[in-house]
Amino acid sequence: MALLRGVVSGPPERSRRRIEELRALLAAGDAGWKPVAADELDAVAGYARWAPAYDAPGNALIDAEQPIVHALLDRTAPGRALDAACGTGRHAAHLAAAGHRVAGVDTSPEMLAMARRRLPDADLREGSLESLPFPDASFDLAVCALALAHLPTLDGAIGELARVLRPGGRLVLSDVHPAFVAVVDGQARFAGGFVRNHVHLASAYLAGARRAGLEVLDCLEPLMRPEDARGEPLHAFAPEAAMDALVGLPYLLIWDLASRSPSPLAGEEAEGRRGGRSD
Ligand SMILES: C[S@@+](CC[C@H](N)C(=O)[O-])C[C@H]1O[C@@H](n2cnc3c(N)ncnc32)[C@H](O)[C@@H]1O
Repeated sequence: MALLRGVVSGPPERSRRRIEELRALLAAGDAGWKPVAADELDAVAGYARWAPAYDAPGNALIDAEQPIVHALLDRTAPGRALDAACGTGRHAAHLAAAGHRVAGVDTSPEMLAMARRRLPDADLREGSLESLPFPDASFDLAVCALALAHLPTLDGAIGELARVLRPGGRLVLSDVHPAFVAVVDGQARFAGGFVRNHVHLASAYLAGARRAGLEVLDCLEPLMRPEDARGEPLHAFAPEAAMDALVGLPYLLIWDLASRSPSPLAGEEAEGRRGGRSD
């Protein structure tokens, strides 16, 4: 990838250095290559293992995501807020500090236990994104961070998130960018294992949002920076190639969505004007 990126537009010296680095790596034999030993675990088993270390500093994806998501969440006045797939309560804690009445839900009892220690007064429940344990229109604001990519399909969860928002409520979604997952195997890695991230293209989020009656207010695609690339497995044995290959790739996909307010033409009047057709 480092060779490909810049093969036309980059300086020839850069390609020469990449080839030298590859030669050195091949010449070093087994000493130059350390396979990434990682077992695939499902989300419940994976996060059970990851929970104690999840909040440790040094997670580049979180460091890149958090300021952007917090800035989006801060656009909504305090009210009732849901952190869906809350994990250890990273965003729930920010919402509570901003004055929201906070609820959270997650499938991992171990992640929830950490969240409960952090937020003893929040309403934190075990449950799934595909079947949220809350009534319709319960929240003014919801966030679902770094979790939808774990699901094989998006529609059920996006529909559920839309269902629990009041009309006019806001929804912020963040995920590892599908290009990052597809191109550099961007899995959710922790010591000794990983939980799979699926590739959901932006068009799939858009279709899910449209079907759920959500309006897109904004879509952000921050790129990988040098400080993000340093934690990637490739960097350990080919640091310069890692930088050339990774820096500038789409890293995160972040959506700011709103549940449509009831139309002034809602109900029978709108039905009449459409001539009774459903579309
Ligand atoms: C990478 S962590 C993100 C946690 C938190 N949102 C954050 O950003 O710090 C992914 C979380 O999604 C949860 N999760 C995965 N699949 C889920 C599902 N189907 N329903 C609810 N939570 C799920 C995991 O247990 C885990 O806590």
